Amino acid sequence: MTPHMTETTMAALTNFRSMNESTPEEWQLIAKSVSGDNAGMANVVIDMLNRLKGSSLAAPVDPYEHSLQTATRAFKDGADEEVVVCALLHDIGDLIAPQNHAELAASIVRPYVSDTNHAIVLLHEIFQGYHYFDKVGLDRHLRDKYRGHPSYQATAEFCAKWDQASFDQSYQPMPLSAFEPMLRRVFSRAPYGGNRTPHVNYMGFRVNMAPGQAA
Ligand SMILES: [Fe+2]
Repeated sequence: MTPHMTETTMAALTNFRSMNESTPEEWQLIAKSVSGDNAGMANVVIDMLNRLKGSSLAAPVDPYEHSLQTATRAFKDGADEEVVVCALLHDIGDLIAPQNHAELAASIVRPYVSDTNHAIVLLHEIFQGYHYFDKVGLDRHLRDKYRGHPSYQATAEFCAKWDQASFDQSYQPMPLSAFEPMLRRVFSRAPYGGNRTPHVNYMGFRVNMAPGQAA
């Protein structure tokens, strides 16, 4: 046995080959080895934001700059910290999920934000269409199917005041470092502590029991 193989063998506290054959005792060992279900999330989203730099040459500003502009406008308009963080992250899925980037961003923030703010991120892709869909042959009023939704007005305002306005090459946004403390505070919250997402709690993990559904 090589030293490397010895290390690998010793690192594994459990040895089931499938979940079906795992034991409660093994899951207790796994639970002890993890530090919590949102540990490191702030670092992950900061890394994702940085990867947006230079990712689009066609738009007037790249998605990184657009994200900073959107968050800066929200902050300067007095939006609360959670909304500012949602503004910063609303397009974080541009690279990894270009066809459903809003769903991806909404899933990332969902455990840590209100139902309203989750809906804003989830629906912003359709609502921002009010500001340009007519220019690409679509109906700019597609958002109307959400009339009566409790987050309709908030999402419309998010898009009108901050999202659609944030492609301005002459605008000087706040740096990402200014938003980092806000990000870290929001992602250090107890998951699902501030919304109505059905979830279960086991081994220190809180897991969404209604995936794909907007509250
Ligand atoms: Fe956007």
